[in-house]
Amino acid sequence: MRTPVIAGNWKMNKTVAEAVALASEIKEKVAGVENVKIIVCPVFTAVKSVADVLKGTNVKVGAQDMYWETSGAYTGEVSGEMLMEAGAEYVIIGHSERRQYFGETNETVNKKLKKALSIGLKPIVCIGETLADREAGTTEAVVGKQVKEGFVGLTAEEMKGTIIAYEPVWAIGTGKTATAEQAEAVHAFVRNLIAQLWDKETADAVIIQYGGSMKPENVASLLAQPDIDGGLIGGAALKADSFEKLVKF
Ligand code: 13P
Repeated sequence: MRTPVIAGNWKMNKTVAEAVALASEIKEKVAGVENVKIIVCPVFTAVKSVADVLKGTNVKVGAQDMYWETSGAYTGEVSGEMLMEAGAEYVIIGHSERRQYFGETNETVNKKLKKALSIGLKPIVCIGETLADREAGTTEAVVGKQVKEGFVGLTAEEMKGTIIAYEPVWAIGTGKTATAEQAEAVHAFVRNLIAQLWDKETADAVIIQYGGSMKPENVASLLAQPDIDGGLIGGAALKADSFEKLVKF
């Protein structure tokens, strides 16, 4: 059975002091939870301080992006090795906001993903269609292409070590959650595609999170679906109370 993974993507929110305060509160509230993997993803500047607060606890730390080179003349970028040194165990790759505003493509996602896997940084790769895609009936085509191109060249072992976050772009920060049925349909599609491209054992093992206006009120119905294995949460992860409710769905 797959262990659910609940991850908070704090996006560009929280100063170092605020991030440390939130991490400390979360640590207290979810202490002792063992049936769910818990991750928080602060901004780069807060990764080290948050990791120090959470060291040795059941709450792990992720970064929100990385570059695929180790070091060099890449002004403004941060490498996976640097993030691991700062205490990150996970990294979000290819979030739709990075695809929309910062030119991320399936190709750059693939480079970052391979690099993360090669150094032991655990990737959370985001996929998902826009509203225009959904209305045009191309959801499966778009998501399928993101999987085929984004994950190309991964071994079955690497695929098993990759968390996928299905985040319909139209549901992110809009309050419009995909219904449990809408989300499940895409999750099942992605899992079947992985079975085709790799094998059934890999598809059965891979964690597929849902993201997009997930909150305490809808988490239980989403996670009751057979192919939804957790959540990547923005807004509702910024308060310890609601994050606790999500973890204890
Ligand atoms: P919201 O939960 O704020 O809709 O954000 C989802 C998301 O983008 C998580 O990565």
